[in-house]
Amino acid sequence: MRKAFKVEFLPFRSTHSFARGTNLLDAIRKAGLPLKSTCGGKGTCGECLVRIEGGEARIRTSAALPEEVRRLGYALACQTEIEEDLTVELPRFEEQSIRTVAGSRFFEEHRDRISGVFEVNPVVRKIQVSVPAATLSDNSSDLRRLQRQIHKEKGLRCLQAEHRVLKKLAAAVREKEGEVTAILVKTGPGWTLVDLQPNPPSKNLCGLACDIGTTTVVCEIADLEDGRVLSTTTGFNQQLRCGEDVISRIDYARRPGRLQELQTLAVQTINALAEKSCREAGISSDDIYYVSVAGNTTMTHLLLGLDPRFIREEPYIPTMNLVPMVKASDLGLNVNPEARVHCAPAVGSYVGGDITAGLLSTPILRDAEKTSLFIDAGTNGELVIGNRDWLATCACSAGPAFEGGGTKCGLPAIEGAIEAVTISKSGDLAYRVIGGGKPKGLCGSGLVDLLAGLFVHGYLDRSGKLDQERAGKRLVRNGEGTGFLVEKAPRSYWGRDLILTEKDITNLIRTKGAIFSACALLLKNIGLTFDQLDAVYIAGGFGQHLDVDNAIRIGLLPDLDREKFHYLGNTSLSGAYLVLLSEKNRELVNAIAGKMTYIELNAEPGYMNEYTGSLFLPHTDIGLFPSVKKFLRPGKRLDD
Ligand code: FES
Repeated sequence: MRKAFKVEFLPFRSTHSFARGTNLLDAIRKAGLPLKSTCGGKGTCGECLVRIEGGEARIRTSAALPEEVRRLGYALACQTEIEEDLTVELPRFEEQSIRTVAGSRFFEEHRDRISGVFEVNPVVRKIQVSVPAATLSDNSSDLRRLQRQIHKEKGLRCLQAEHRVLKKLAAAVREKEGEVTAILVKTGPGWTLVDLQPNPPSKNLCGLACDIGTTTVVCEIADLEDGRVLSTTTGFNQQLRCGEDVISRIDYARRPGRLQELQTLAVQTINALAEKSCREAGISSDDIYYVSVAGNTTMTHLLLGLDPRFIREEPYIPTMNLVPMVKASDLGLNVNPEARVHCAPAVGSYVGGDITAGLLSTPILRDAEKTSLFIDAGTNGELVIGNRDWLATCACSAGPAFEGGGTKCGLPAIEGAIEAVTISKSGDLAYRVIGGGKPKGLCGSGLVDLLAGLFVHGYLDRSGKLDQERAGKRLVRNGEGTGFLVEKAPRSYWGRDLILTEKDITNLIRTKGAIFSACALLLKNIGLTFDQLDAVYIAGGFGQHLDVDNAIRIGLLPDLDREKFHYLGNTSLSGAYLVLLSEKNRELVNAIAGKMTYIELNAEPGYMNEYTGSLFLPHTDIGLFPSVKKFLRPGKRLDD
């Protein structure tokens, strides 16, 4: 038998045993801990960097791990094998830095204007009733007497009871003179009894809202009696090891056993976050009776263990759009086994529940007069245009660049990510790091700022090429090509230079180009122009702040009056939260899906032209960006 060694993972303080020779990345996955691994363990992306704090490991050399970084004690987890007891530090992944709409100022100020109803009237109820004792003249069964009492005292028709509850029913109605607390879940026209507790109830009544993104997953625990958010946690989707985007995960799922693996990883991700959320909220996972999930169509399929193959094959058909409620225990979620799971419905293969739920936390559906644009720039870019009376939607493959994927220096909006950058005319660069300290990388808002700053100050030309002369000392050339030095090794968290490579710039430009061209084409399709938009709501994992001016300068957003823009952050999570709180919202989100017209952009003849025009800063048609055009004179920089 191979000898087992103990590995302690910091900062989680979690220790696990592994056999000699276990790959460290596999060990981290088995421990259920988050670590980015975009290349799937090939040793090329450099994203699985960890620090070996104690013990020796066998570390293979890799182009993605410079010798000087290795000497400082760093290793690529995928290229490392466990040889003895180890202490390993993983990048810290703090949750509070992801902006969520619920609890934000926008949410507070617009509570009455957001499309979802802000009310606490969930599909789960905790009610106290007094069940009369059986007598010879009332010899109804225990369940019948309880059902009758629930109807009499609370007006609810309780039609069914779960087997697990029936097992404790006889004892419960005979203790404490029949005073019981019943937990009911609305299932169809009636209610189902899912738990029974003695009075006073020992348990809380909580729900879990979950935004299951391709890159990041966010869980929020809410008290279902007063709507308070008790805790929020964020982590990488553990499926990242199987591919960075939905297409690669769908391909991964084709081989035997892989679909099950992806389903397990989705559940493990949620379970790990839910466990942490429960700890922080001071509740038991058994107190969670309702789970509201919002995710794109592929993520929803994978969570439910449904074959996603036909999502990527013409004519791109999902198994279903409207998802029936499932039991948490059927999925393997570590919450109350009788908890019900609602997944926000999809509109099609590439417009999923994250968008239908996301719309709930915007004011779009409230107004018949105004026409608004909703942009969700996640791993996939999704757009919706419309108002209360009509909604048109489309998706584009934007890529995860603004969520921290696909770029060497990109990070989700986590602690240690640079969230804002300014570059002065003289070339001084200043930045703000989420949570302070040394930077680990840049999140979406930081990347937008950096790209805009480089463009405005003449470091980049309109095609995104670095002006090597202007970059001066900040120009870096290494095995990965040319790049712009954001921070030197000693001042970066990982002890290696933080560089925005030209390849990163190309990826960012492709991403912003895909989003902008999809907006333009969707508008064209419905006979509107940008200036006819009354409002633009932006969602996505950019970070806490998105500088709209900078987003316009790089051509990500249309050049409109700045007051039309509202950056909302993670609307998918907020939508899931609104569904958690209110039965009306559950119905509303289902209705939204039925109302949206899906436009397949790939089938549009003008798509390639639009896209190609958007692959410049800000665009080949500079007339679309008057506020940028007035600065762009031949031979001049924007800051001249
Ligand atoms: Fe290890 Fe990419 S370098 S996962």
